[in-house]
Amino acid sequence: MKTLSVYMLLGSLASLLIATGIVTAAAAAGTTAAAGDPVNGKRVFFADGCVYCHGTTGAGGGPAGPRLAPNPLPLEGVTAKLRTPSGRMPVYSPEVLRDAEIADIVAYLQSIPKGTDAKDIPLLNR
Ligand code: HEC
Repeated sequence: MKTLSVYMLLGSLASLLIATGIVTAAAAAGTTAAAGDPVNGKRVFFADGCVYCHGTTGAGGGPAGPRLAPNPLPLEGVTAKLRTPSGRMPVYSPEVLRDAEIADIVAYLQSIPKGTDAKDIPLLNR
């Protein structure tokens, strides 16, 4: 639980940085609109600690978490993973994270644009 408190504290700090514009949001440019609210989903993603394991744009690269976006799992898959994680991820029960908040997180992950292909970056093709 001590670890989770640290995540929560860091989450609050991250929210503050975002609210003050010190950290800017990834451009929301998804093509398929999700049922959830991506703005709130991003807030929850940062506030509830997902960001520390999965990175600010769900790209992975944190101490533990794999890549979640672009092309995230569908809502059912994300919900199942949060309710009954199989590995090192903490359980997110409905008391901690409501179904609507998961839908918002999925909407946020869906809003994260795909990066540019390496073959389309001139500097990498000299
Ligand atoms: C303590 C680190 C940690 C935190 C915090 C965390 N995760 Fe994870 N997550 C993991 C790890 C490690 C895995 C891979 C192992 C597993 O499947 O349990 C994972 C797997 C996942 C997967 C499955 C990815 C796939 O393609 O199979 C999803 C979806 C996910 N996390 C979403 C979230 C969301 C949303 C949050 C916040 C509510 C969150 N995670 C918080 C560490 C974390």
